[in-house]
Amino acid sequence: MTLLAVENLHTHFITRDLDNRVRVARALNGVTFTLAAGHILGLVGETGAGKSLAAMSILGLLRPPARVVQGSARFEGKDLLALGQDALDRLRGSRIALVVQSPKSSLDPLAQVGRQFVRLQRAHRAIDGATALERGRAMLEAVGIPDPSRRLYAWPHELSGGMAQRVLIAMALVNDPALLIADEPTTGLDVTVQAQILDLIRGLARERGIGVVLITHDLGVVAHYCDDVAVMFCGQVMESGPVRSVFEAPLHPYTQALLASTPERLRRGTAQPAFAPPDLFRLPKGCLYRQRCPLAAPVCAREPPWRGGEHAALCHFAPAGAA
Ligand SMILES: Nc1ncnc2c1ncn2[C@@H]1O[C@H](COP(=O)(O)OP(=O)(O)OP(=O)(O)O)[C@@H](O)[C@H]1O
Ligand SMILES: [Mg+2]
Repeated sequence: MTLLAVENLHTHFITRDLDNRVRVARALNGVTFTLAAGHILGLVGETGAGKSLAAMSILGLLRPPARVVQGSARFEGKDLLALGQDALDRLRGSRIALVVQSPKSSLDPLAQVGRQFVRLQRAHRAIDGATALERGRAMLEAVGIPDPSRRLYAWPHELSGGMAQRVLIAMALVNDPALLIADEPTTGLDVTVQAQILDLIRGLARERGIGVVLITHDLGVVAHYCDDVAVMFCGQVMESGPVRSVFEAPLHPYTQALLASTPERLRRGTAQPAFAPPDLFRLPKGCLYRQRCPLAAPVCAREPPWRGGEHAALCHFAPAGAA
């Protein structure tokens, strides 16, 4: 069952220069993917590809000068991009949860963990303090935190990085969301803790049927933990489909280049991309990858089509109707 269907999402940064001329940075140029309930979709791409911006656009968290200018994001029958701010605020933190990197800055340093659990639940429903605390305790237990009753009384500064990230995930899940968007939830954590947290997220997706968008630059993580993948370049999803199919038989030359990168380069993650992406203020017409593409031909000056079925790519040369 499709939980979230993002289609042709475009987001621009619209500013004026000193001469009062309008300048438009076209940061998202067509983000398209679908996520099924209980599935984990990896949203991958090099730094600056627009992964975080896509999440913020979908969740209605953009601030001027960023603005969604086109597209839709259907969730439980509603287009999130057409909802008012109030309706979105109600959904966020209840049906939709967001986990970002840097857990420390996302926790309120002035409130014990238990108080934050109570607050989060009361923002969305009438619930008495004791019940809310008990639900918080149960969530801490579900995310594998030892001695959860005691942790309700912990202050954020007392938590290690891995523990704080687990607490944040517990908080994101306490209102039973159907959709979890996790933006680099394990970056900066050591490898063992990273594996534990990703295992946890996968378990929650399987057991509770939560759909997860996992934003990462780490293709190893995608191969290991995701069901589906959407590959972004220059604000565009270039290819998407089941992980196995995309990794074994990538259709887009960009995905092929990305997968051919050395493990060392992939581990560097947010380091410099292999090649400079096009200037967002002066994007070429047609395929955004064509200046780098070994297959580039005159036809690439025209908008590439989405080609394929469940596994598809945005390329003139992708086989039509692929699996
Ligand atoms: N105020 C702004 N004006 C113009 N462009 C901007 C502005 N803020 C961000 N951008 C551009 O938006 C694009 C999207 O960035 P985003 O943070 O979503 O990338 P990302 O894929 O999440 O990268 P990372 O892996 O580093 O987190 C970037 O190319 C960035 O240069
Ligand atoms: Mg980001």
